[in-house]
Amino acid sequence: MHPTSPSHATDLLRVEPQKNLRGTFIVPGDKSITHRAVLLGGLARGTTRILNANPGRDCAASLAAIALLGARVAGGGPLTEIEGVAGETGEPEQVIDCGNSGTTMRLLAGILAGGPGMAVLTGDASLRARPMARVIEPLERMGARVLSRGEGRAPLVVRGASLRGLDYRLPVASAQVKSALLLAGLRASGRTTVRESIASRDHTERMLRAFGVQVAIEREGNGAAAETAVSVEGGTRLTAATIDVPGDPSAAAFFLIAALILPDSEVTIERVAMNPTRRGAIDALIEMGGAIEVRGLTDDGLEPTATIVARSSRLRGIELRGASIPALIDELPVLAVAAAFAEGTTTVGDAGELRVKESDRIDLLCRGLAAAGVRVEERADGFLVHGGLRPQGATVDARGDHRIAMAMAILALGAAAPLEIRGAQGIPTSFPGFAEQIGGARARR
Ligand code: S3P
Repeated sequence: MHPTSPSHATDLLRVEPQKNLRGTFIVPGDKSITHRAVLLGGLARGTTRILNANPGRDCAASLAAIALLGARVAGGGPLTEIEGVAGETGEPEQVIDCGNSGTTMRLLAGILAGGPGMAVLTGDASLRARPMARVIEPLERMGARVLSRGEGRAPLVVRGASLRGLDYRLPVASAQVKSALLLAGLRASGRTTVRESIASRDHTERMLRAFGVQVAIEREGNGAAAETAVSVEGGTRLTAATIDVPGDPSAAAFFLIAALILPDSEVTIERVAMNPTRRGAIDALIEMGGAIEVRGLTDDGLEPTATIVARSSRLRGIELRGASIPALIDELPVLAVAAAFAEGTTTVGDAGELRVKESDRIDLLCRGLAAAGVRVEERADGFLVHGGLRPQGATVDARGDHRIAMAMAILALGAAAPLEIRGAQGIPTSFPGFAEQIGGARARR
C-alpha cells in the first residue's frame, strides 16, 4: 500500500514507518510571505508578479479576498499576477471567507479599517473560535469600527472610518497584530508605531519596503527594557513589485526532522527562507545535536535564503522558552516529534500561544504523542517530552489542523507500526502534495 494514501475520505491519512528518507525535497513557497505579497499587491498601483506563491488554501483565501476588494488576479501556479487597486479598495459585495487563515483575517481587518463601506469577515469553525480582540482593540483606538461575535470572535464586521496613527506596544508577540496595525497605519493620519520586546516575524516590514514604503525600524532601550519600534507614515502609496517567494521553512522542518530521526537518511532542501525571525527550529535542531548544514546563505534584498541539508542524527533533549519561541512557534508540533526520538527530556515553555492556533496544539500534540506511547506531560504554556522510546502505531486525531497532521505523519515514519491520522483534511491549507512527497521519497529508496 502507498505509505501515505488518503483512504476513502481525505480526512484519514495512514502513514507507514519508513526505513529511511533520502533525496532533494521541494517545499512550497513560504505561506507568510505569500500572504503579504498578495495583500500588498492587491493594494498597490500597477501589476505585482508573485513567483512561487504558496499554493495552499490559506493564501488562496487572501487572493479571493483582494479580488473582492477590486484587485484583478490572474495566473496561479508558478506565476500569479495581481493588478492592484492603487490604494482605492472597493466595498466587497459579499462576505469575505478567510477559511482557516488567521493571517488573512487579521491583516485584512487592518486593511479594511481605513477603507470605504462595510465588510464582513468570516472563516471556518477553527478561525471563528480564535481571538480577534487582539486586533480589534488597537484598531478601535485608531478610530476603526469593528463588530464581533461574543468576546472578539469572527464573524467580524468592519466599517471603514478615518483613522488616526497610533503608538502601540504589542502585549503578545504577534506578527499578525503588528502587520494589521502597520497596514491600517498606511491609511491613517500621522505616524503609526508598533513596539515589540520579543521579535515576531518581520516579513511585512521587508515586503512594505519592496513595495516602495518607507518603514522606520529603531532599537530602543537596553536589557529587559529593549524593544523594536516599527513605524510607517499615513497616506503612503504602494507601488507594484515582483516577489520571488522563497521556500517555506515551516514546511521544510517536516522533511529535515524526518531525516534526523530516521537511520541512513539525508535530505536536501533548496532556497529555504532563512529570515532570523523564522529560523528558530533550525537552531533548536542543531542544539539538539542534529547534523544540519546551512549552505550558501544569500540575501536577495527581500529575504535571506539557503540550501539546508539534514542527516540522521542522535538527538538530545533541550529547553525551549522565552524570546526564542516566536521564531519557532509554528514548528513546535514537529519539534515535539523530534523530541520524542531524542535522548532525555525536551521542555517547552512560554508557548501558551499554541493553544490559540488552528487548534489547541498543546492539547492535540500531547494526546497524539501519548496515543503513540510517547511519554509527554502537558503544561498550561507548553509541554515536556521524555524521548528515547520508539513510538508505537496508533490512531490519532489532527482535528483539521494542518501542522498537527503533518507532525503526526513524521512521527509515523519513525514509529514501530503505522499511524492512522484522522482529521488530516487540513494539510492542503499550507502544503498540498505533502503526503505524496513522503510517499515519493519511499519509492526512490
Ligand atoms: C503568522 C504569524 C504567526 C504564525 C502564523 C503566521 C504570520 O501568528 O503562528 O502561522 O504570517 O504573520 P501570530 O502573529 O498570531 O503569532
